[in-house]
Amino acid sequence: MDIAVIGSNMVDLISYIVDMPKEGETLEAPDFKMGFGGKGTNQAVAAAKMGSKVMMVTKVGDDLFADNTIKNLESHGIDTEFTSKVTGTSSGVAPIFVDQESKNRILIIKGANQHLLPADVDRAAGKLKTASLIILQLEIPLPTVYRAIDFGREHNIPVIVNPAPASKELDFDYVCKSDFFIPNESELEILTNMPVATDEQIKEAASILINKGVENVIVTMGNRGVMWITKEKSVKVASQKVTAVDTTGAGDAFIGCFAHFLVQNGDVLQAIKKAAAFAGLSVTKRGTQSSYPTSVELEAFLMSRN
Ligand code: RIB
Ligand code: NA
Repeated sequence: MDIAVIGSNMVDLISYIVDMPKEGETLEAPDFKMGFGGKGTNQAVAAAKMGSKVMMVTKVGDDLFADNTIKNLESHGIDTEFTSKVTGTSSGVAPIFVDQESKNRILIIKGANQHLLPADVDRAAGKLKTASLIILQLEIPLPTVYRAIDFGREHNIPVIVNPAPASKELDFDYVCKSDFFIPNESELEILTNMPVATDEQIKEAASILINKGVENVIVTMGNRGVMWITKEKSVKVASQKVTAVDTTGAGDAFIGCFAHFLVQNGDVLQAIKKAAAFAGLSVTKRGTQSSYPTSVELEAFLMSRN
């Protein structure tokens, strides 16, 4: 197994809006798109699309989204042996509002994702041990995230933590045991209580985490690019200029693609560059997973920009 994602799945209900309705108001919106989302499965699908062998430890509910979510994972060749159903619970859903400037607002109803417990990590241990990398986000209970970090340490498997959505309850001692900590700028701001308006401020905020022991902090900054900070250096990778249509899931696109190339050859900077291009391509299309490019499209895009 190349990559194990222990995390969430959601069905995204994306409304393309002009204005948000005020209290008591009914407004019409021009368009709607339903698709597969959830930060965990988005990252798993991004890595699988690049060719990684991926397993997904996740929980669906017992509604009409459940089987379709499993089928979707399988259609990408993702191992679902440890994807299971919870009875009496809805699957995770995410009502999302995308405005005409392609900015989004996301609500998440975690549903079955709340039932992914530390024991589920232990149950999958036999297969998890064969993974070269573990990826975690925060749409599942935090004790499960901590158990997975410990599992990675115990078995010498590098761990990526994507602290999304940002949670003030996150235990920094655990997070700092991860090898790659990948927030976006607003998550970094919330977690460190530091301003993040300039590159210098991003470095300052990231250095708090570096000083606590994280080896690599990678901050995704949308069209401002990506910053990679370690104890010794900080490197900024510019983003590709694209026409943004829908940025939903772009951060996940980055992480899944980054993970793929990291496992393939261990070159962090090259993986960041490829992942930034992959995420850039994803924002040119509507939807979340449905907007992720194929590896052929990614390579063509990288060639055209060189
Ligand atoms: O990061 C984007 C994702 O956040 C969406 O797919 C939505 O499901 C929420 O999990
Ligand atoms: Na998109």
